[in-house]
Amino acid sequence: MVKIRLKVSDQFDKIVENVRQRYNFKNKNEALNFIVSYFSEELSKKTFNIGVGCADITDLEKKYVKEVLDSERLSYGPFLKKFENKFALSHQSKFAIAVNSGTDALRIAVACLKETENWDNGDEIICPALTFVATSNVIIQNNLKPIFVDIESNTYNLNPLKIEEKITDRTRAIIAVHLFGQPASMSEIIKISKKYKLKIIEDSCETMFAKYRGKSVGSFGDISCFSTYIAHLISTGVGGLAVTNNPKYAEVMRSLANHGRDGIYISIDDSKGKKGKELMEIVQKRFSFERIGYSSRITELEGALGLAQLERAQEIVSKRRRNALYLINKLKKFQEHIKLPVKMPDREHSYMMFPIVIKNPAISKKALTLFLEENGIDTRDMLPLTNQPIYKKLYGEDLEEKFKVAKWINNNGFYIGCHQKLNKEDIDYIIGKFGEFFKEKIKNGN
Ligand SMILES: Cc1ncc(COP(=O)(O)O)c(C=O)c1O
Repeated sequence: MVKIRLKVSDQFDKIVENVRQRYNFKNKNEALNFIVSYFSEELSKKTFNIGVGCADITDLEKKYVKEVLDSERLSYGPFLKKFENKFALSHQSKFAIAVNSGTDALRIAVACLKETENWDNGDEIICPALTFVATSNVIIQNNLKPIFVDIESNTYNLNPLKIEEKITDRTRAIIAVHLFGQPASMSEIIKISKKYKLKIIEDSCETMFAKYRGKSVGSFGDISCFSTYIAHLISTGVGGLAVTNNPKYAEVMRSLANHGRDGIYISIDDSKGKKGKELMEIVQKRFSFERIGYSSRITELEGALGLAQLERAQEIVSKRRRNALYLINKLKKFQEHIKLPVKMPDREHSYMMFPIVIKNPAISKKALTLFLEENGIDTRDMLPLTNQPIYKKLYGEDLEEKFKVAKWINNNGFYIGCHQKLNKEDIDYIIGKFGEFFKEKIKNGN
């Protein structure tokens, strides 16, 4: 160790001496000052590119993907099975069905409940007025009706106090969405669902590895859905999972994801080692379809990526928490201008994103987000739904007016990234840019 240090300092001395001679500095100190100011200038020129998410591919992901390629087994096989089992287990659930998106997981979850619980076309499903558009799209795609409910101003999730006034004799289920990494207020939602005998779907596409009152997201709903799209907590590029503890729902969803196929034959392994009558039944039912299904399948390559990311989940989430807490701590001084993420004491937050809502009416969202974008910090709107052209066309031009908190977020909310590949220098840069904006833009008006 001592030897190495000596070597490095010897080399550094040599560099200083070279610089001194080359630029004719009188002494070592002058050369040193020159070097320091040169590098400070160069460092300040560094451009930052702070995305809302990242691809985080380590040797483990590469190893598993290579194993898949070497095996030449691309369709549903050992990697996907392991990924599903481990994912279900890590969310205190029994079954997981990997599909090609979080949207598809939601679509088959709703279709499964509609079929097994005998819902009629036009039956109503409660969902939040602020969420990614897929949550309510899948309700409509299943010929059901989304009934929007306003959100809480702290968690940005479904407000349980507003649910009961929306319940009718056609209400069948509640979709509780856990936005940005924080679980919704599940105890209150479950109480209502029991009182009115409603099913619960958790749209946990933005939240994994987070507990609410000691219990994992994904373990509250009749079915829960997750997304592994790029920029989500673990990523397979595209992908999603539907999770349940109910074997019947698991069977129906597996079939729905496979064109509505008879569950006797879902993968090429299902006929392996079978003989006689048993094999004959499988052969005859390979092309036997029991319901109108979808092609929601995913490949072993995504299974390999998913498994590797799952094995690294604790590392990923703890870095995100570290980044988010550092941001909160340092941005606190601007709290008169912006509302920072609020973590409720009875739940964990896995910080898929870092949501910010502007509080100071003198600051425009356009000006702040443009300033951040111009400085290489990506922003996204905080999931506006009720002001979307298609939703206004379907449910009335005044739809947004009916949900005051969601409207406030639509107008003032945006999020930035706090993902695991951002280091302290990146986060300090973000904090510095907020500081610059508040100092300059407020002084000059914006
Ligand atoms: C709350 C929510 N639901 C559903 C989805 C859809 O997931 P996917 O993009 O995997 O289809 C997303 C995607 O970001 C989401 O944020």
